[in-house]
Amino acid sequence: MPPMEQQKLSGRPLVGQAISRLEGYEKVTGAARYSGEFNVKDLLYGYVINSTITKGKIISIDTSKAEAIPGVITVFHHGNRPSLAWFSMQYADMDAPPGTPFRPLQNGEVKYNGQPIALLVADSFETARYAATLVKVVYTTEEFQTDLIGNMAKARAPKGGLATFLKPPPPKPFGDFEKAFEAAPFKATGKFIHGTEHHNPMELFTTTTVYNGKGKLTIYDKTQGTVNCQLYVANVFGLHFKDVRVISPYVGGAFGSGLRPQHQLFFSVMAALELKRNVRVTLDRHQMFTFGHRPPTVQFTRFGATVDGKVTALNHEAIAETSRFEDYTEVVVNWAHMLYPAQNTLFKYNLVPLDVFSPLDMRAPGGSTGLHAIESTMDELAYQLKIDPLELRLINYAERDESTDRPYSSKELRKCYLQGAEQFGWNKRSPEPRSMRNGHKLVGYGMATGIWEAMQLPARAAASITTEGKLKVNSAVTDIGTGTLTVMSQIAADEMGLPLEDVSFTYGDSKMAFAPIQGGSFTISSVGSAVKAACNALKKKILKKAKTMDNSPFKSHKIDEVVFADRKMISIANPSVFISYSDIIAANDHKVIKSVNFAMPKALKLKKYSRAAHSASFVEVEVDEELGTINVTRAVTAVAAGKIINPKTAKSQILGGMVWSISKALREETISDHRFGKYMNMNIAEYHIPVHADIHDLDVIFVEEQDDIVNELGTKGVGEIGLAAMPSAIANAIYHATGKRINQFPIHFDQLL
Ligand code: MOS
Repeated sequence: MPPMEQQKLSGRPLVGQAISRLEGYEKVTGAARYSGEFNVKDLLYGYVINSTITKGKIISIDTSKAEAIPGVITVFHHGNRPSLAWFSMQYADMDAPPGTPFRPLQNGEVKYNGQPIALLVADSFETARYAATLVKVVYTTEEFQTDLIGNMAKARAPKGGLATFLKPPPPKPFGDFEKAFEAAPFKATGKFIHGTEHHNPMELFTTTTVYNGKGKLTIYDKTQGTVNCQLYVANVFGLHFKDVRVISPYVGGAFGSGLRPQHQLFFSVMAALELKRNVRVTLDRHQMFTFGHRPPTVQFTRFGATVDGKVTALNHEAIAETSRFEDYTEVVVNWAHMLYPAQNTLFKYNLVPLDVFSPLDMRAPGGSTGLHAIESTMDELAYQLKIDPLELRLINYAERDESTDRPYSSKELRKCYLQGAEQFGWNKRSPEPRSMRNGHKLVGYGMATGIWEAMQLPARAAASITTEGKLKVNSAVTDIGTGTLTVMSQIAADEMGLPLEDVSFTYGDSKMAFAPIQGGSFTISSVGSAVKAACNALKKKILKKAKTMDNSPFKSHKIDEVVFADRKMISIANPSVFISYSDIIAANDHKVIKSVNFAMPKALKLKKYSRAAHSASFVEVEVDEELGTINVTRAVTAVAAGKIINPKTAKSQILGGMVWSISKALREETISDHRFGKYMNMNIAEYHIPVHADIHDLDVIFVEEQDDIVNELGTKGVGEIGLAAMPSAIANAIYHATGKRINQFPIHFDQLL
């Protein structure tokens, strides 16, 4: 592999080195094949037909014109859907929230606009897409509601369920909030409104299902969880688990949209089983807006403080959209009391079911939403108190997590504040709004805090020493573009004392060692720990094998009396006693030595601690008062996320989160016309995301943070923390520039005029 050779690695350990992603060469040369690029023989193409009404029933579907087109094979719909033994098992997919999951073509009912109601299968994608336009559907329509703001009175508590184990309920109240807030000499309040956002990764959702006969399937799928999709297909279609293999070698971004199996997987598998053919189904860009999304929310905050700036009362309430059939929840209101100690608190989180599809986690779900409200309310409090916003955070610095009455496993947020402020030049800020200018533009400095839970899920990995004395490691985990391949290779190489080029990590295949869905910033801690565990088990096997050799010098050695370095196992007491991996393999009759092991969170120990990554963002904006245009000219995000395995790929994660912060604060929103119950900008021409011209000077700092508790590696994950603080910092900078507090995201220029 060319890139590996070109990288100048400066010795050991590899963990902590800024190594370029190992699959970069394949990706930029087009050699990397994505799920829609496996060109198997005799492939059929399915195109999904979506409902054009929001709620009602399908009276008839006329497919005759479509079926007259040469190349069209068939049209599947609820009236002729194959009589497969599928059943809507509640937890057929690991990420399903409480409720009744939606299954396409179940019946003639339409529950939301854009619902998939039929699949047209043809011998080419173009034919399928064209013929789909000729299918005539007649509906009866019913009344619907899609407007969160207009239906807030219907908010109710979410239903609990299995999938909420990663999503704790709001923290319990402390003291007497109302009394304390009433008595507080300084108060800040806010109402915050966020619009709907849809995931728009570069790669579209595609599944290529290869029909191997007798119900055996090989499925190339765009997903964040190969095992999850295997489970889903086996359960929903009543297949044997071992007959379903899901492969996802490369994923062109997902950001949460691939946490649940998507419609194209269902359709591709259904058609393949029914037609006994290989079938590919691709959702096009427009159809990216027909499944999960970040839900719109309305939030209310009331914070009270003493004259010294000590926060005494915290209230944060959120109302979020969900579908009629599932209670999707986010962790929105749990962060304030994790960040700021207060004696009196009150937190509420409620849902309004509407006629939309179920929302779905989108990068930093809940956190990026809730922290905007929390950190902009803190900003407002700072102005009222005439205390610097950074100083106010330091006055209220939580040494422990008061919301659950536990210490943090580690917390270097103070370093984030101080190093971030230093790098940014926060001390050059003049306190008054509208007091800084650059020519005719108003300049504003804003800052905010970020926090994200450091989670770990059980995962497995397999490791083996090959006949060439090299290391092979595998796990079913995907690499959604985060650098998983690279960091797992680094961890494994260090464990076994091998150079990077002697390590091959394979992944993205449900046949490999079990891994959970890739999300929640928990992959490094979950799968990374499993890789470490598998290597440790392998070391024990190597020592055991060495002991059985004739005249073995290792006979009396225990595992902690040897080290694994330079492709060898070496005696610590006498370094001249060693054996190379290739000699071990030779002694093993030239057979590979293999081990499989797992890593689990140490629940009993961890129960005593709160575990979180922290960050602080500092942002400079320039606002053109006449045009209302906002430019984020500079930003620094300082992150405390435990051990950073690879500063380069980790930095890219934070930079991605910072770009998204600009997008979230200033650009992204799926706009509905509630008269039609329909999204109106279902394309990336009208669904605005930042372009290169929007992105200027972005800087990332990783502060030193040692954590011996959180997991074996001391890692906290970096996938989401980059999006936690900065959206609020942008809003706060806009206030500083203009004196206008705009609490609605995205902030549009017309709100500033
Ligand atoms: Mo992430 S929103 O858990 O993929």
